[in-house]
Amino acid sequence: MTTIVKRGREAWIEGGTTRCKAPPPTPVKPYRLVLLGAPGVGKGTQAELLSAELGACQLSTGDIFRAVKNADSASSTLRSALLSPDMAAALDCMRKGELVPDETVLSLIRERTKCLRCRGGFLLDGFPRTVTQARALDQILAQENVRLDAVLDYELPIETIVSRLSGRRTCPSCKAVYHIAARPAKAERLCDQCGGQLFQREDDQPEAVRVRMQAYDESTRPLIDYYRQRGLLVSISAEGPPEQIFGRTLDALSGKMLVTR
Ligand code: AP5
Repeated sequence: MTTIVKRGREAWIEGGTTRCKAPPPTPVKPYRLVLLGAPGVGKGTQAELLSAELGACQLSTGDIFRAVKNADSASSTLRSALLSPDMAAALDCMRKGELVPDETVLSLIRERTKCLRCRGGFLLDGFPRTVTQARALDQILAQENVRLDAVLDYELPIETIVSRLSGRRTCPSCKAVYHIAARPAKAERLCDQCGGQLFQREDDQPEAVRVRMQAYDESTRPLIDYYRQRGLLVSISAEGPPEQIFGRTLDALSGKMLVTR
C-alpha cells in the first residue's frame, strides 16, 4: 500500500478566514475535478492518490461534517459552527444516512469559495450530490472564472460496496482511510501517518448504509447525465485494488489529454 501524507486542508475544514498552514505548491497545471460515485465506492481513497499525484487538495464535504462532529478536540471556529441549529440538523441527517439539506451544504461551500480558486486546483469529493448543488457549483465557478476539467464517475456493484463500507476504518486526526482487509493499517487500530486511534463511522452501520444507497440512487445518480450532457463525464470501473483503479483513472485523464503519461 502506498503511504500518502495528507495535506492539512485547514481552510476547507474550518472555513471562514482560516488559511492552510502548508498551501499546495503551484503546479504546472492546476487540476479541477469532481469525484462522483455511490457511498463507499472508493472516492476518498482515489482522491488521496490523485492528490499525491496531481497536487490538488481533496475537498470532502463529509470531512467537514465529521470535523464538526468531533469538534471537542478542535478549534473554536469549529466549536461555534457546532452550535448552529442547521449544523445540528445536518449531523442528525448524516447519522441516519440521509443527505444534508442543500441550503446547509451550499452555505458551507460559499464560505469556502477560496478553496475553489486555490492555485493548487481541487478534487471535490462528495459535492455536488444533487442537481441543485451541481447548478449552484456551476454558478460559483462561473463567478470565480474557474472551469471544471472533468467529473470522474466510479462504478461498482452494490455487494462489493457494502463489503468496502463494513470494513472501513478512519483516522479522526488526519482523515486517512483504511480497510481491515484491503488496506490495513500497519499497527492494529492505529493510523500509519499520525498514530491516531482508528474508528468505524456511525453511518457505516447497515441501516444507515441502506438509506445512503437510496439517497444516492434518487438524488445523486441523476448527476451522471447532468455531467455527460456537459461533456465532462469520465466513467471508471472501481473494481480491483486501489492502485489499479488509480492507474485506470490516470489513463482516462490522459485519454482526455488532461495528463501526460
Ligand atoms: P461522505 O463522507 O461524502 O461519504 P460518502 O459519499 O457516503 O462516501 P464515503 O466516504 O462513504 O465513501 P468513499 O466513496 O469515499 O469510499 P472510501 O474511499 O472511504 O458523506 C457522508 C455524509 O455526509 C452523507 O451521507 C451526507 O449525510 C453528508 N453529506 C456529505 N456531503 C453532502 C452533500 N454534498 N450533500 C448532502 N449531504 C452531504 O472507501 C470505502 C472503504 O473501501 C474504505 O475502507 C477503503 O479503504 C476501502 N476501499 C477503497 N477502495 C478500495 C478498493 N479498490 N478495494 C478494496 N477496498 C477499497
